Amino acid sequence: MTFDKLKPQIEVLLKKEDLEVKDKLTQVCELLEQNIPYYDWVGFYFKNGNKEELKLKSFAGEPTDHEIIPFGRGICGQVAVSNKNFVVPDVKAQNNYIACSIHVKAEIVIPLFVDGENIGQIDIDSHTADPFSHEDEVFLQWVNEKVAEIL
Ligand code: SME
Repeated sequence: MTFDKLKPQIEVLLKKEDLEVKDKLTQVCELLEQNIPYYDWVGFYFKNGNKEELKLKSFAGEPTDHEIIPFGRGICGQVAVSNKNFVVPDVKAQNNYIACSIHVKAEIVIPLFVDGENIGQIDIDSHTADPFSHEDEVFLQWVNEKVAEIL
């Protein structure tokens, strides 16, 4: 399914009144994981209180051992401090990388801002090599902007 077709579905999901934020985000993860063939694991991490670490809030795909990630560690921890998108076409080429599954070949992490502050991120793992384009970045930035509105 194209990004343009997914956008209205995401907007409807995030507006559901009878769901907690965690469950809304889980449904967003599931929608993305089920409809974009090269999105094999999708999760939202957020800053864990006032600790210098990320905590996994919602996800779709295989459960991960890495529910807590210290700032600076792995692709996710680097984005927590850089405030910048991180697109990894080949995870084997990264020194500072936390492997969640032997099947993962590529990863994209996009920071999520509320009032200009980097408070979390969307993280996507792919079993396809080098699958992400600028369009993925633009789309995922849009997803994070919509999520920021309900936090
Ligand atoms: N690979 C990530 C860790 C999180 S998992 O992909 C779910 C990283 O290097 O930060």
